[in-house]
Amino acid sequence: MYNILRKLYSQYLKFKFRKLGVFDNSVDFSKHTSLKLIDGSRKDDIVIGSKCRIYCSLITQSGGKIFIEDNVKIGHHSIIGSVKNILIKKGTAIADGVKIFDNNNHPIHPEDRLKMYNSPWDSPYRKWKFSVSKPIIIGENVWIGQGVRINKGVTIGDNSIIASGAIVTKDVPANAIAAGNPAKIVKTDIQNEPRTL
Ligand SMILES: CC(C)(COP(=O)(O)OP(=O)(O)OC[C@H]1O[C@@H](n2cnc3c(N)ncnc32)[C@H](O)[C@@H]1OP(=O)(O)O)[C@@H](O)C(=O)NCCC(=O)NCCS
Repeated sequence: MYNILRKLYSQYLKFKFRKLGVFDNSVDFSKHTSLKLIDGSRKDDIVIGSKCRIYCSLITQSGGKIFIEDNVKIGHHSIIGSVKNILIKKGTAIADGVKIFDNNNHPIHPEDRLKMYNSPWDSPYRKWKFSVSKPIIIGENVWIGQGVRINKGVTIGDNSIIASGAIVTKDVPANAIAAGNPAKIVKTDIQNEPRTL
């Protein structure tokens, strides 16, 4: 019974989100999912591949792109925010409470921040386009642990793991584990680790 109700609710969410992103009927959403198009962003700025499970918030401002390939899972209370370009490749698993932003959110210069903070909530100066932004690429079969933040400009190579709680400010190569704040590489060549399955 629970599974039937869950599927019906997921169908309702697909109906609700159909004007806010591009996805097919195999995608699963939950009550925690939200898709937001702000400051001129359009439906085709959020593209979600087949068989994805998207339980997070996807936010695009000013035409920022969020492209998620097939079979990606993103957990509850995670937020992906784009004003530039975020690509998440196939088979990647992103845990709960992860934040991925391709921009600084706020300007760096103190006078610019004052101007932003003194502007009303609906002012254009509140938008991410006035902060530094750089594209993010997350490779195939990456595993991002709980509570991670990935900052602008980062590329994460295929098969790598980001340890829970890490703040990633620099690129991570393929088949590596990165941990800490700021994240450092703590293990490489994990394709040579013993198999446990
Ligand atoms: C603080 C911040 C705005 C700085 O941005 P910036 O001036 O563009 O800084 P850079 O990205 O050029 O990084 C400068 C250095 O600080 C390091 N760094 C940046 N952010 C860091 C962080 N959160 N933790 C640890 N180190 C960090 C970088 O690795 C870099 O190190 P290096 O000098 O050894 O190369 C940004 O990194 C940040 O933390 N943004 C998130 C803000 C936030 O919490 N937003 C939520 C909504 S308001």
